[in-house]
Amino acid sequence: MHQITAIYGSPRRTGNTATLLHQAVAGARAQGVTVKEIFLRDLNMSPCLEIYGCKRGGECAIHDDFQPVRDDLLAADGIMLASPIFFYSVSAQVKILMDRFQSQWVKKHWIEGLPMGKSRSLRKGLFLAAGATRGKKLFDGALLSVKYFFDVLDTELWDYKFYRGLDYAEDIHAHPDYQSEAHHAGVALARALPPA
Ligand SMILES: Cc1cc2nc3c(=O)[nH]c(=O)nc-3n(C[C@H](O)[C@H](O)[C@H](O)COP(=O)(O)O)c2cc1C
Repeated sequence: MHQITAIYGSPRRTGNTATLLHQAVAGARAQGVTVKEIFLRDLNMSPCLEIYGCKRGGECAIHDDFQPVRDDLLAADGIMLASPIFFYSVSAQVKILMDRFQSQWVKKHWIEGLPMGKSRSLRKGLFLAAGATRGKKLFDGALLSVKYFFDVLDTELWDYKFYRGLDYAEDIHAHPDYQSEAHHAGVALARALPPA
């Protein structure tokens, strides 16, 4: 059976992106996919300390909740990631997770010698993001970060959905259309996973 790991990246447990990701998760589960949900806000995860202990074998030298999350992501066939836009980027919680994956980048490119740009596409990923304002470039920074984060994870940025005009945590409830789109994105991701 397929497995998706879904990362909730907001400090709000029931805010806009959490509601959207919850819909995507429900959509994937309705297709028979097992989904593991991870709330980054509940975890004890240090930022990368840039000590490069990972140069010895590719294992991050900081031992905390990063390792089980890494293992869940690497064990998955599909990845869902949801983040609010904070100062035109992802949340601090998501950025910490991304930076800790530098250990995986070191493993792939420095230790195993894989040339840059030659990552295999083993997984499919869905990125959901929400911001309060409506600027044209609102999601550009986060999108680039997620694209290269997914690259380290051997994950194709298969789809993304961006939601503008959401500020207060409950704003999402005025948008059944957004929720329905996120639900369908979860269904579609589950259906797009290669045959088990
Ligand atoms: C620290 C912080 C920074 C933010 N920066 C932006 C921003 O740059 N652009 C924007 O449109 N909204 C910004 N917002 C608003 C959030 O993106 C918005 O409220 C979003 O819907 C929150 O999603 P959540 O409920 O899933 O956390 C910011 C909010 C916070 C708390």
